[in-house]
Amino acid sequence: MSFLSRFFKKNNIDNENFDIDYNNLPVHIAIIMDGNGRWAKERRLPRTVGHKEGSNNLDRIAHFCGEIGIKYLTVYAFSTENWKRPKSEVDTLMDLLLDYLKNAESHMRGRSVRIRTIGDSSALSKEIQEQIVRVTKLTENNSGLTLNIAINYGGRDEIVHAVKELARDVAEGKIKCDNIDETMITNRLYTGDMPDPDLLIRPGGEKRISNFLIWQSAYTEFWYTDVLWPDFQKEHILEAIKEYQKRNRRFGGV
Ligand code: IPE
Ligand code: IPE
Ligand code: MG
Repeated sequence: MSFLSRFFKKNNIDNENFDIDYNNLPVHIAIIMDGNGRWAKERRLPRTVGHKEGSNNLDRIAHFCGEIGIKYLTVYAFSTENWKRPKSEVDTLMDLLLDYLKNAESHMRGRSVRIRTIGDSSALSKEIQEQIVRVTKLTENNSGLTLNIAINYGGRDEIVHAVKELARDVAEGKIKCDNIDETMITNRLYTGDMPDPDLLIRPGGEKRISNFLIWQSAYTEFWYTDVLWPDFQKEHILEAIKEYQKRNRRFGGV
């Protein structure tokens, strides 16, 4: 019995319903982890409880993605626009992120997950910044899934950063303005050496990009579900992958 058959059996997943092609997996999956607030509201609980549930779910989903052989998982945890929320909610989200990164340090020992973050970390607390450095360093040589957590991330902000770097290089005579090309911009994004996402999943029912990976998702396949992030399960990942494998990615060709 293969690892996957055993896995499906153990988790009571009906293999027949998820006959995905493991030789044609998306290399990079991106997820907009949305719907925590509504999940809590449905249960008459404070939004913060939804965020806690969402954070627990990230661990489960990341682990699953690693197990089935996904190479990169980029998750949207806090956007540059999320600072607009009430301070108490922002504080809770920051506390949860710090907890997540601290737990990751112990959880990830002996696991092959490599953790990175993307976004402008300079606006985060010193403690979070230090924890990001620690956990990144601790897991940098792991060769399994790369879990990329977007914190204070905005696609437009990221492009502004890249443009500033390029302008500096031009001013210092390192590069010529006319030589600037797409690769130079791509290399200066937070995602640097990572491939573009193949599949972007948005739970929570909204059908918008909300400033996530706007440059990188030029040819990404989108998959949406009304399921709220804390309820989002392994089965939904498999469903999204199955749908992805039916898509005809033309990249502008015929
Ligand atoms: C996603 O859930 C978490 C963050 C944006 C930080 P939301 O908090 O946006 O949940 P809804 O969309 O209000 O339900
Ligand atoms: C996107 O969700 C950001 C994260 C999930 C971190 P939002 O809830 O902030 O997005 P909008 O406001 O519905 O577009
Ligand atoms: Mg939301």
